[in-house]
Amino acid sequence: MSYKQRTHTCGELRPTNAGETIILNGWVKSRREFGGILFLDIRDRYGITQVVIDSSSTPELHASLKEVRSEWVVWTAGEARIRENPNANIPTGLVEVLASEVGVINKSTLPPFEIADGILTNEEQRLEYRFLDLRRHDIQQNFLIRSHLTQIAHTFYAEEKFVEIETPILSKSTPEGARDFLVPSRMNKGEFYALPQSPQLFKQLLMVSGYDRYMQIAKVFRDEDLRSDRQPEFTQIDTEMSFVTEDDVLDVTERFVQRAWKEILDIDVKAPFKRMPFVDALNLYGSDKPDLRYGLEFCDATSIGASSDFGVFKDAVAAGGVVKVLNAKGCGSFSRKQTDTLTEHAKRHGAQGLPFLKILDGQIVGSFAKLLTDEEKQSYVTLVGAEDGDLLLFAIGDWERACIALGALRVEIARQTGILDSVAGQFSFHFVTEFPLLEHDAEEDRWVARHHPFTQPMAEDLDKLSTDPNSARAIAYDLVVNGYEVAGGSLRIHQKEIQEKMFELIGMSKEESNAKFGFLLKGLQYGAPPHGGIAFGFDRLVMLLAGTDNIRDVIAFPKTTSGLSLMDGAPSTVSEAQLQELGITTIKKNKE
Ligand code: AMO
Repeated sequence: MSYKQRTHTCGELRPTNAGETIILNGWVKSRREFGGILFLDIRDRYGITQVVIDSSSTPELHASLKEVRSEWVVWTAGEARIRENPNANIPTGLVEVLASEVGVINKSTLPPFEIADGILTNEEQRLEYRFLDLRRHDIQQNFLIRSHLTQIAHTFYAEEKFVEIETPILSKSTPEGARDFLVPSRMNKGEFYALPQSPQLFKQLLMVSGYDRYMQIAKVFRDEDLRSDRQPEFTQIDTEMSFVTEDDVLDVTERFVQRAWKEILDIDVKAPFKRMPFVDALNLYGSDKPDLRYGLEFCDATSIGASSDFGVFKDAVAAGGVVKVLNAKGCGSFSRKQTDTLTEHAKRHGAQGLPFLKILDGQIVGSFAKLLTDEEKQSYVTLVGAEDGDLLLFAIGDWERACIALGALRVEIARQTGILDSVAGQFSFHFVTEFPLLEHDAEEDRWVARHHPFTQPMAEDLDKLSTDPNSARAIAYDLVVNGYEVAGGSLRIHQKEIQEKMFELIGMSKEESNAKFGFLLKGLQYGAPPHGGIAFGFDRLVMLLAGTDNIRDVIAFPKTTSGLSLMDGAPSTVSEAQLQELGITTIKKNKE
């Protein structure tokens, strides 16, 4: 099959090219026929150019193209000329190519869906035919942004004197947080590598080795439940620095974000970003990653609740709980059905119910209004500055649970009242800091590290490790953009004794910590510098830059929420011979 190689791309021609002989290569986007004239729109990743085949001047050529259909790969040669009917929607819309030759390079079977922007096709089919889905212009833009961000990351961190170092993909299983993906070892039967959940320990040991500033665009793997912003394999921009403070790490992080937003979106992002302690984030917004593009802040009504005549509030406060209230502005007209739906939403996020008050025509009514004195009702209204037409939503009980339930309602109210739509296209950047060091795992009844067990406790909370671990804070920080956690990091423990103490706190015996993390403890004995770092969720950054809320739109070959790759059929069974070689037997599924 011979064809003529292109002289121009399909996005290149402008009126100044008129009169030139042009060769294009590309895919037929569409064909139209009007009164003996055939129009082929030819597409490549750069754009679309209209090609004209006139039956009166080139009858044989015209006749030879009867079969040509969408998505066939063709070449064409001809003369560029100004279009009689320009298309203002595309940059090449002022010109066309009058073809003297057109050749078919390859045919295409009829695609299962049209290759066009904004088509409504079910996602399963798009993923099965991902190579066609990726041919769509709007999806291609996401991958151009992704590629651009990769270049910016390499350049920016190189300028900042970071050294790029690759860490192993076949590494040791040290599960903390998510489950590991395991890889059986053929040469050491019965033993397994784990795919890294992050390069965390390697990058810390690179600081021990003296590399001072490390970065890597790293593929990492976590076997956890998937969501619209979570994939089992994803990419991090992973960084680590020696002899730094929290401010140093956050400063580089801010400057990287500024560079990315400027270069990709031409947006000037203001720094320094707001820093909000975890406690405030929960108290005001009910989330450790609040979307600060809008307000809807909570008020604390615990002291009013403490002296309430309403037993539910009074008892909750007496038991050490809180009363939090959110003013859903202008939602006083919500119907019973709407408040019932909100109640269900609150319950799904850990609330027992949803007491509410409405202010309608100067009256304070609502689910428990009859049980309150006029004075108490008025106190809530004054506290939140409510006006006629407002709806007050209450969450009571355990502080964190109450805040989280109200936080879920905050987002829902923003969605239902159009606030979220009104802030689309805006960006809000802030750090959440001073995370709790530990959290209690109710299932296993033990403390676990909230970030990871290598995180340094705040100096003023070191004593609490023995006396009150619950209230010890970590030098850990997350970068939050529009309600997404896009990066997380911490200063690390660099003293062996404190690291051992930390393992002990999370219920690890000496034997267990040595077996799992002996190599880290060993490294910490040989001159470990103070160090810290942060890792961006690269895919989430691209999501934000590309303006999508689905992580699959920015990963070329993603998995479904059940972990399947519909295009190539992974995961799949393997042959008995392969299993034997690995010394593995499998338990047959029931139906077999
Ligand atoms: P962390 O676990 O917070 O930190 O991960 C860093 C960032 O990675 C992103 N992320 C994900 N993106 C897509 N799919 C997932 N399943 C997923 N899980 C996390 C988030 C998150 O902020 N070693 C530490 C970093 C450090 O301490 O330096 C770590 O991995 O955007």
